[in-house]
Amino acid sequence: MRDFEFLSPTKIIFGRNSEAKVGREVKNYSRKILLHYGKGSIIRTGLYDRVVKSLKEEGIDFIELGGVQPNPRVSLVREGIEICRKNGINFILAIGGGSVIDSSKAIAVGVPYSGDVWDFYAGKMEPKTALPVGVVLTIPAAGSEASKSSVITNEDGWYKRSINTEIIRPRFAIMNPEVTFTLPPYQTACGAADIMAHVMERYFTNDKGVNFTDRLCEATLKTVIYNVPIVLKKPDDYDARAQIMWASTIAHNDLLSTGRTGDWASHGIEHELSGIYDIPHGAGLAIVFPAWMRYVYKHNIERFIQFAINVWNVEPNFESPERIALEGVERLKRFFKDIGLPTSLSEANIGEDRLEEMATKATERGELGEFVKLKKEDVLNILRSVLK
Ligand code: NZQ
Ligand code: ZN
Repeated sequence: MRDFEFLSPTKIIFGRNSEAKVGREVKNYSRKILLHYGKGSIIRTGLYDRVVKSLKEEGIDFIELGGVQPNPRVSLVREGIEICRKNGINFILAIGGGSVIDSSKAIAVGVPYSGDVWDFYAGKMEPKTALPVGVVLTIPAAGSEASKSSVITNEDGWYKRSINTEIIRPRFAIMNPEVTFTLPPYQTACGAADIMAHVMERYFTNDKGVNFTDRLCEATLKTVIYNVPIVLKKPDDYDARAQIMWASTIAHNDLLSTGRTGDWASHGIEHELSGIYDIPHGAGLAIVFPAWMRYVYKHNIERFIQFAINVWNVEPNFESPERIALEGVERLKRFFKDIGLPTSLSEANIGEDRLEEMATKATERGELGEFVKLKKEDVLNILRSVLK
């Protein structure tokens, strides 16, 4: 087990009607804020009205910027930065999912910086300061509500790139599982794949002596596997929605990375898919992750056997050790299929014409992943293996 320091200070405010507390929380930081949201689901569901009521009760002024789209774009981030500067805004409230939160984080690092915000995502500069960000979460998926990451797409070249820095972890996250009752089944499923991917990126490590975090990872995965079919049948099952929502935060607030390094190659490959083809991140992961597993399992077959037995209940005496490992991967893939996700590129209407470009982009800053280091050719092989 590696040495570590752990501080993941996002205050979680969880439960029914918790959005009524948003004014109280924001007041600790600012009286004039940017209200940032997506394409309108929060207006249709009434969440917008409830948030505005709470802000008004606390005398908080706000300027709005809606329109964040899934796979959020840098052009809207730049607009947000200008609005904050012109109006002396020093706090951003994100109401939405990973896309809105990531766009908010990008605005937060962009406002105090004299250059163009893309410099950070292109790896040219490190952000030094950021405005504080608060979150009202509407979809359990990206884990951005308590993560140190922001992922933004640049329309110029369709690069989807991330920054990772402690200064952008949200100050608070308000999480009411009832708000997620309105999620379409496909978004629920995409969210589940992303939560599971965040755990699995951490699970497949080369570090030894990490059985405590292994067990935490397995419990988080099993929670998602158990509860997602329940909410797909009964979208307003509060307890099942609540388990998934809390699991999404724990999957990505770095508790599960304590004492170990993760892999993150599947995320690197997926970001090329959603960057170029604008598919949901979770759908891309459902295609890439099982393919990555089949490509690398021989590197540490014992770990894959543990995954198969502890997460997917494969019988320890099933055929052969190799078959156990592969059966775990097969059950993961079947789960993704059963909840309505694509598991091949063709199911997502992606052909072979741009695989080379994606493999080049994914590895242009060096080899991808930690568990097994992947070169461009490896990425290409993985993508080719899931064409059909
Ligand atoms: O835009 P609106 O109208 O709000 O609709 C959204 C959007 O269409 C809808 N939705 C959200 N909550 C809803 C709802 N519809 C009905 N009822 C609700 N309660 O769902 C759609 C997807 O929203 P989005 O925010 O895009 O989803 P998600 O949370 O999956 O975020 C995806 C983005 O996060 C990035 C992904 O790459 C992707 O760009 N990630 C961010 C990470 C981070 N910052 O730590 C880590 C992840 O690995 C990931 O890369
Ligand atoms: Zn993810």
